[in-house]
Amino acid sequence: MGFVAITEDYPWDKLAPYQARAAAHPDGVVDLSIGTPVDPTPVPIQAALAAAADSPGYPTVAGTPAVREAIVAWFTRRRGVVGLTVEGVMPTIGSKELVGLLPSLLGIGPGDAVVIPASAYPTYEVGARAAGAEVLATDDVDAWASDPRVRLVWVNSPGNPTGEVLGIERLRAAVDAARAIGAVVASDECYAELGWEQPWASDGVPCLLDPRVAGVSHEGLLAAYSLSKQSNLAGYRAGLLAGDTALMSRIVLMRRHLGLIVPGPVQAAMVIALSDDAHVAAQREIYRRRRETLLPALLAAGFAVDHSEAGLYLWARSLDGADCWVTLDRLAGLGIVAGAGEFYGPGSEHHVRFALTATDARIAAAAARLRAGARS
Ligand SMILES: Cc1ncc(COP(=O)(O)O)c(C=O)c1O
Repeated sequence: MGFVAITEDYPWDKLAPYQARAAAHPDGVVDLSIGTPVDPTPVPIQAALAAAADSPGYPTVAGTPAVREAIVAWFTRRRGVVGLTVEGVMPTIGSKELVGLLPSLLGIGPGDAVVIPASAYPTYEVGARAAGAEVLATDDVDAWASDPRVRLVWVNSPGNPTGEVLGIERLRAAVDAARAIGAVVASDECYAELGWEQPWASDGVPCLLDPRVAGVSHEGLLAAYSLSKQSNLAGYRAGLLAGDTALMSRIVLMRRHLGLIVPGPVQAAMVIALSDDAHVAAQREIYRRRRETLLPALLAAGFAVDHSEAGLYLWARSLDGADCWVTLDRLAGLGIVAGAGEFYGPGSEHHVRFALTATDARIAAAAARLRAGARS
């Protein structure tokens, strides 16, 4: 599949007929296909944005001292990272652009290969192909550990769409194998604050830069994070990157050439969002309740829910073995729309992805319809 082939249509457009059928439900559609936050942006974050509205000069690509210090403090306080300095961090314009552009920013191109998860957020592949690189979609380290073409390995934990969390050992195996062939490991951790069950570690979702994973240095490692989900800031476009200082200098330089700069008022808002843990805890409880409403209803309606131990999705498959399109049709009859497993790569065709990003009322409506559908 070439780059043109993957960009000439947008996979989510294939959901339109299911959305139309679901919209005919007398109480309206419950659309759980896309993970866009619906709860308000916390007022102190809005106030920080507004207070910085007078912003005549260009902001810096590397970030204000305040935002860089807030990023370092967050990784240290919330993720157990040791030894990070302001030279090892930068803000990004949300994390999607960084995911899409990272191969190009690192100078990866034709003849190189990028490893992505087997079931993956589509932008890892788009970014690799945009740079002209090959894509290896696998969760098996042995499949690429002796491949000299590999220059970048993406890991995504907690994963989208699966909600799987990679423990210390799995992350460490990827890091050791990548370092042995001189490849960079980039970890997309945008759901890290949304852990529900913790079979992997008692102290939270492990970070790539945790010393138990990275060892004594961050060499060859980059961790991406986003404030979209934890702080309801998707509209601000507020992400961040941390890790190897030499890689960071190169990425900052390229982004200066390209003008990829986080707007000054957004940088000011990020400082507040990163410094306050209370609003994140409150938002986590909102999603926990929604998950506790939807998950048992899915089980009652004949679904198995795989992984989903963290993050904003329930990764479900119908126990009758139906493929995602058959399941989506059944759901549309109940006025519910979910994401198609097929969008996330080969092997995911029997799954559908339910996002927890709908209001309490809409999640409750979805649960009631699933239970009623199971009885009829
Ligand atoms: C795995 C993953 N990475 C990155 C993003 C991008 O998030 P944002 O650009 O809002 O930071 C998303 C959004 O849903 C995602 O699921």
